[in-house]
Amino acid sequence: MVVLGLESSCDDTAAAVLRDGRLVSSVVSSQDAVHGPYGGVVPELASRHHVRTVLAVIDAALARAEVTLDDVNGIAVTRGPGLIGSLLVGLSVAKGIALRRGLPLVGVHHLEGHLLAANLDREPGDAVAFPFLGLVVSGGHSGLYLARRPGDYACLGKTRDDAVGEAFDKVAKTLGLGYPGGPAIDRLARSGDPSAVRFPRARLKRGRFDLSFSGFKTAVWQYVRDHPPRPDDLPDLAASIQEALVDMLVVTTAEALDATGAERLVVSGGVSANRRLRTRMAELGEERGVEVIIPRPALCTDNAAMIALAGWPRLAAGESDGLAVEADAALPFGVAWSG
Ligand code: KG4
Ligand code: ZN
Repeated sequence: MVVLGLESSCDDTAAAVLRDGRLVSSVVSSQDAVHGPYGGVVPELASRHHVRTVLAVIDAALARAEVTLDDVNGIAVTRGPGLIGSLLVGLSVAKGIALRRGLPLVGVHHLEGHLLAANLDREPGDAVAFPFLGLVVSGGHSGLYLARRPGDYACLGKTRDDAVGEAFDKVAKTLGLGYPGGPAIDRLARSGDPSAVRFPRARLKRGRFDLSFSGFKTAVWQYVRDHPPRPDDLPDLAASIQEALVDMLVVTTAEALDATGAERLVVSGGVSANRRLRTRMAELGEERGVEVIIPRPALCTDNAAMIALAGWPRLAAGESDGLAVEADAALPFGVAWSG
């Protein structure tokens, strides 16, 4: 079965082709250059840019897979959450193709895509076994989920304010590092001392697995105001910032592993491309005897292959949401975890 996946929930226009659950091609057109000058994603520009690029991205994904629309058996598209104008572009194109070609169409939750992305590098028979704990950390999301069975997810906690990627991006902006800031901090931090500056780590008592980054952001802003950094100071500062953010994620994840008894941990979303986070999570796994699975960086950031993979079982089972499927900017994910 050939599945065409589409993803346009934020600022990446992406299409991918999967054959029988195996990744054949994945094309991502980044809008970083469009939003860079503004230091963050401008929703109206994002949707306009999706409109401009989406057909070329689909054509490229089909061409790289050496298939045409005639070979496609079903379409999986992100239906939420995300920027509503951006979501509507991918969904409308998906509906247009489905209608014209008489193809089944399923709407996919973006976070389910991130949680399953690790399977794109594995054989379909060797998918990460359920149950597993999933940490999704990106520019739009920071949450911990217990994946109990396919389609059955429980939310242990999420951010009360910014997503961790947003925190990376905003403090990077404070330091004048450009957008997106996460990769810039990661790069600079490699030659810096993570213990140079001790930034606060938020610990929430109620909602134990919730995260919060607003206090941290203010602390960095105040530090930079009081100690304007010279270029030589930036590596130490970046390493200290990264260490604080990574600490918050590792401590909360460790507690969630203890509480759930999960034997596998999947870390995904754009921030899981971070080198320090990958190392620290691998160490955590060794300490606890937990298998840690982190997709390769290209599969951590937004892509359509993960959306195609998440939609594939439903398409293979003959399901279709049809043309009635709607975009939902705040599409909820997972029932509340009750322990
Ligand atoms: O998953 P993603 O591509 O898009 C969203 O769904 O948001 O994540 C983008 C986010 C940005 O905030 C970016 O700064 C962050 O992921 N990011 C990183 C790294 N690479 C991307 N953050 C820290 N270190 C990195 N190496
Ligand atoms: Zn994402």
